[in-house]
Amino acid sequence: MAVHGENTLLWRVGLEAALRDGHGKVAALNADNWQVNRMARITYIEYNGTPHLVEVPNGLTVMEGARDNDIPGIEADCGGACACSTCHVYVDEAWVDRLPEMEAMEEDMLDFAWDPDPVRSRLTCQLRVTDALDGLVVRMPEKQI
Ligand code: FES
Repeated sequence: MAVHGENTLLWRVGLEAALRDGHGKVAALNADNWQVNRMARITYIEYNGTPHLVEVPNGLTVMEGARDNDIPGIEADCGGACACSTCHVYVDEAWVDRLPEMEAMEEDMLDFAWDPDPVRSRLTCQLRVTDALDGLVVRMPEKQI
């Protein structure tokens, strides 16, 4: 059985290999690339019930996770500027209180979403992925408007 120190060494060797540039140099390990290498597993469920479980890098938004994985049902017409409401989802009830609070702009824009729910609706472009979102489940509305 590996002891903690061995695991740490193997992890570091793997991380350094992942950070090597084209010239064999190891990039500096800093807060930015540390963030990029961390992922959260997010399940997006289409209106017809089709689930998509993907890993989304920390730092992206939940909307960008859907876009980058070609998941249908989140249109994001404004590109994440909180100006369209076409990235609307219903957050699984178990997650409602675990997400960061909504800013006024998101709350206002949700008034324009299709069939918003006062408790579960969120705009995915306003949800930044962190370790705390690992396991998040979101459901798409019948349509985006
Ligand atoms: S992408 Fe337009 S409000 Fe989220």
